[in-house]
Amino acid sequence: MPIDIAQARRDTPAADKILHFNNAGAALMPAPVLAAKLRHLQLEADTGGYEAAAAADDQIEAIYDSIALLLNADRAEIALVENATVAWDMAFYSVGFAPGDRILTAEAEYASNYIAFLQVARRTGAVIEIVPSDAAGALDVEALERMIDPRVKLIAITHVPGNGGLVNPAAEVGRVARAHGILYLLDACQSVGQMPIDVAAIGCDMLSATGRKYLRGPRGTGFLYVRRGVLDRLEPPFLDLQAATWVAPDCYEMRPDARRFENWERNVAALLGLGAAVDYALGWGLADIEARVTTLADELRRLLAEIPGAIVRDRGRRRCGIVSFTAEQKPARELVTALRQQRINCHASGPDSTLLDATARRLPDLVRASVHYYNTDAEVARFAAAVAALV
Ligand SMILES: Cc1ncc(COP(=O)(O)O)c(C=O)c1O
Repeated sequence: MPIDIAQARRDTPAADKILHFNNAGAALMPAPVLAAKLRHLQLEADTGGYEAAAAADDQIEAIYDSIALLLNADRAEIALVENATVAWDMAFYSVGFAPGDRILTAEAEYASNYIAFLQVARRTGAVIEIVPSDAAGALDVEALERMIDPRVKLIAITHVPGNGGLVNPAAEVGRVARAHGILYLLDACQSVGQMPIDVAAIGCDMLSATGRKYLRGPRGTGFLYVRRGVLDRLEPPFLDLQAATWVAPDCYEMRPDARRFENWERNVAALLGLGAAVDYALGWGLADIEARVTTLADELRRLLAEIPGAIVRDRGRRRCGIVSFTAEQKPARELVTALRQQRINCHASGPDSTLLDATARRLPDLVRASVHYYNTDAEVARFAAAVAALV
């Protein structure tokens, strides 16, 4: 069913005050998310933090069910953490690497992930190898297949890279990983919330995501999915009394479920906001969200491409709500600042966030305009007109 835009905007307090095309940075929280967060903060102020958490126990447990439903996973396969980076790191640093083990990744891999690859390669002697891109710019699945051998320990790629609208073929990669029994870690930080994500259909073993981007949740929230079948092959890089129980002076037992990747202290109000955000997204339906988001983004690309001197930089056959572009005469950061003065939000993305891709394509800073379903055709037109007047 098409999304009721008027309702979506009524639910979004700032929708008529700012033009927000920074949904891949941090989307605007809808009212139910803000309410869930504020309600719990008030309860903490009124009753105490531990007491408020105890009172909200059922709601906290329900977050695991909501995320499991969002991903087509089981609640025991979900861990709640501080952000997508912590989620990804907990998964990645759990894999034991030996000299010569191969880590396969894609050209547009995110900086934090690649820095972790480099650190682990230095420590262990594992090697990082880049799967080439196809002619359209996405990971080339046939090239991946040709690179597989018994030394491949991990395939770790980003679903939607930080610097553009490309959607990597996550499920095709999953088929290769499954066929060869290779661990597969998917960074879905920018895809969750803007398209359906089904971990069974994708075939990943681990998936990381954040709350604040397309899910429209609070900042400082994230989650990790770990497939039950691989849990016992992964040793979390650190354990606390939430992840494990100290059962004897010289002995601890790890939790049997994915919560072994969590730690005890948490921002309960923010997590309840995350749960509300997931329920809210499920209420609209992820397929309908994707249809709306891609329609708006395609129109924005079309309008920007008509502006003399503007170059749309997105690649890939399948694209999403992120639109990246440059202007020949105006550096991205200047353009973003000038737009901000008109209450138009977008983001400048530097080459160092996706260094390999940016170097290969000789990219300068990019303007990243990311639309969501609560945005309108009129906003798309206004954004393009504002850019045209500035470049
Ligand atoms: C592809 C990708 N992965 C991971 C992250 C990190 O997410 P977080 O800031 O929630 O740790 C980002 C943030 O921009 C991202 O673009």
